[in-house]
Amino acid sequence: MHRFTSRGLAPACLAIAASLAFAAGANAQGTGKIKVGFMLPYTGTYASLGNAIENGFKMYVQEQGGKLGGREIEYFKVDDESDPAKSPENATKLIKRDQVDVVVGTVHSGVQMGIVKVAKENNTLLIIPNAGVDEATGPLCGPNIFRSSFSNWQPGYAMGHVLAERGMKKVVTLTWKYAAGEQSVKGFKEAFEAKGGKVVKELSLPFPNVEFQALITEVASIKPDAVFVFFAGGGAVKFVKDWAAAGLKDKIPLYASGFLTDGTLEAQGAAAQGIETTLHYADGLSSPRDKSFRLEYAKAYKLQPDVYAVQGYDAAQLLAAGAGAVKGDMSKKAEVIKAMEQTKVDSPRGTFTLSKAHNPVQDFYLRKVDGRENKLGAVAVKALADPARGCRL
Ligand code: PHB
Repeated sequence: MHRFTSRGLAPACLAIAASLAFAAGANAQGTGKIKVGFMLPYTGTYASLGNAIENGFKMYVQEQGGKLGGREIEYFKVDDESDPAKSPENATKLIKRDQVDVVVGTVHSGVQMGIVKVAKENNTLLIIPNAGVDEATGPLCGPNIFRSSFSNWQPGYAMGHVLAERGMKKVVTLTWKYAAGEQSVKGFKEAFEAKGGKVVKELSLPFPNVEFQALITEVASIKPDAVFVFFAGGGAVKFVKDWAAAGLKDKIPLYASGFLTDGTLEAQGAAAQGIETTLHYADGLSSPRDKSFRLEYAKAYKLQPDVYAVQGYDAAQLLAAGAGAVKGDMSKKAEVIKAMEQTKVDSPRGTFTLSKAHNPVQDFYLRKVDGRENKLGAVAVKALADPARGCRL
């Protein structure tokens, strides 16, 4: 029987209410832990990317003695499964249920759109540690939206520039049909066609399909000077192997944004040798900063770091700049944002600043696969800033 009387219930409710108020109040006054919510893919074709981001983030925090702005960090996490349909609900869980101070997510551009929307509605601090979706630092930019990675436009633009300089005229593109692929092709085309090249065909298949055969045959039948692709994670491994197995490796030059060969070389093996890509990270940068990062990462995780680990590490560096300025009191939002905007991130990729739209202004490297490395060739474009079209901040 229900024997709770209002007299009996009230003290219990009050006690719970008081403890909740304390938890919230503690954070507001900056005496509690800083709550970080990872919304990342931990399953599916991008699972290894999500893990590398979390590893990199946690490594930076560990290097600071487990604290940012003098506060310990408490982690929450949600597997976003790279599924855009589940994104708003997943982001809401972290923000409303777990009451995180900052969301760190995600990898997939489509999922990112949902996170940006929910973060804006709740005015929650968001640090994007990978997804390049142009809108996040374009028309949907906001004071609370930051990115430690790149915009989709950036690596594509860098490669368009390189191929035009090499005098290529006729290129076919091939990508997954969603924002990351489409926007990298847009960036590529913008640079390539401005200098006289022509994208003669844009091919695509739905994410995360890996039935590449028919499309590879179609590329070969067009006989372009080169092909430019966007694939990443598990799908990138399969694509590079299929391309080589089709006998095209030495027939049609294959170029890509660097995601095609980052964190994937062990699995791609011989099929990847010699592939040239553009990205904001490379092996063999040989700065003291990068060397110590790589050593520490390999020690901590028994793995070689990749671009995703760097972006996770730098997401933590951005948060550290904000938290440090307010001694961990994350309720001082305007001050946190100001400090993050003004920071110079001492990244393993090289130092970078943020644009007005909160996207890294950074060098793009031309790399070439050699063994298990994306060896640095040259700087393809220096201090490349996303044009941030449509951003009013
Ligand atoms: C994206 O969806 O924005 C995306 C995913 C994986 C990458 C790069 C970009 O490696």
